[in-house]
Amino acid sequence: MIAKLILDKKREGHALGSAEIREFIEGFTKGEIPDYQMSALAMAICCRGMTERETADLTDAMMKSGRCLTWDVPTADKHSTGGVGDKLSLVVQPLAAACGISVPSLTGRGLGLTGGTADKLETIPGYSCAQTIERFQEIATTVGVSLSVQTDDITPADKKLYALRDVTGTVASIPLIVASILSKKLAEGAHTLVFDVKCGKGAFMKTREDAVALANALVAGAKTAGRKAAALVTDMDAPLGFAVGNANEVREALEMLRGRDRGSGIRDQVVELCVELAALMVSLEKEIELDEARTMCREKLEKGLALEKFEEMVTAHGGDLESFDRFCAKPTFKFKIQAMRSGYVTAIDAEKVARAAFMLGAGHVTAGDRIDPLAGITLAVKVGDKVAVGAPLATLEKSTEPDGLDRAAAELYKAFQISATPPEPKSLILERIV
Ligand code: URA
Repeated sequence: MIAKLILDKKREGHALGSAEIREFIEGFTKGEIPDYQMSALAMAICCRGMTERETADLTDAMMKSGRCLTWDVPTADKHSTGGVGDKLSLVVQPLAAACGISVPSLTGRGLGLTGGTADKLETIPGYSCAQTIERFQEIATTVGVSLSVQTDDITPADKKLYALRDVTGTVASIPLIVASILSKKLAEGAHTLVFDVKCGKGAFMKTREDAVALANALVAGAKTAGRKAAALVTDMDAPLGFAVGNANEVREALEMLRGRDRGSGIRDQVVELCVELAALMVSLEKEIELDEARTMCREKLEKGLALEKFEEMVTAHGGDLESFDRFCAKPTFKFKIQAMRSGYVTAIDAEKVARAAFMLGAGHVTAGDRIDPLAGITLAVKVGDKVAVGAPLATLEKSTEPDGLDRAAAELYKAFQISATPPEPKSLILERIV
């Protein structure tokens, strides 16, 4: 294989052969194909696209660049393309496990504006997401659920390629995104995959059209690889729930698992989305009707069995929830912002809320740096609420008084739109792809 000829072929808009894609990725993984040629191919793919068959070949080659896990118990996982206040994995994964399937879930640390699921979980004192693959498999089969981070031997090609894409303007390409997400999820080995493709101001995919295209491509790719799959396209214009940060998101997830604070409107909608995602996992994996799976999920949640699974998982990962409750009660610097006019909250811009949380230290500036686990934003209102002048809109939180509080507060304030007329009610679920 001559890399330059493959680059010429893709630049001219032709489809690459399966062997060409496989050999290119193998060569890149071994270091025989230099970064500049891989970057050139990524750019050509961005400009010219890939057919469904090419995308499947690229996914397969990236998946096989490392270790691929297999399971002899029923398994399912849920993947979110990432949103603001997205603590859903902390509820969905244990809930699906409570319904009798194993949920092996390799998750990430955030490198956007907010922390990833791993950052959130590691605010629980002692919880370690860094498990060996053997221990990950043991927890996922004995407890029924493990949320761990990906080890270096799973899809090394994606790790190298993602770092290049990040600095060469080649992230925004559906075939590259699909191959990146799917190769990792397929290597993890779950038989059923459910995707939550976020759409809107706080998401990677800003338009419904792009989000639906990505959701269709993920489902098609997973099915081509022999997995059962479905996707929901869900709204990410406003944050999910009230908490945006790390420890405060775990606290909110625990409230959902403990069944507290129902009747809060937005949180009920988030709980319903959790039930829907877990029900899709359960219905596909157990091959039962979706309605039956929904009923099962609601019952498990009501009876506290999802909470039990979460607690067992935390213990298996070395975490201590009692210490977490004490840690969260620690004195924290808090600053409230208030409404300067009365009316209805018609929008809460998720991206601006995330940026304010980031300014407080809730996200990573560079991979591997430390976040402030107590930094974040807790909203006091949701879209549709009526507020009077002076009513609290949100609280900025941090373990100590932050530098640049004014800038973060100003950014947060800009997130709120208050108008004289109430907004149209909107569902969180925008599209279903099954
Ligand atoms: N998440 C991934 O894992 N890969 C992408 O390319 C984009 C989002």
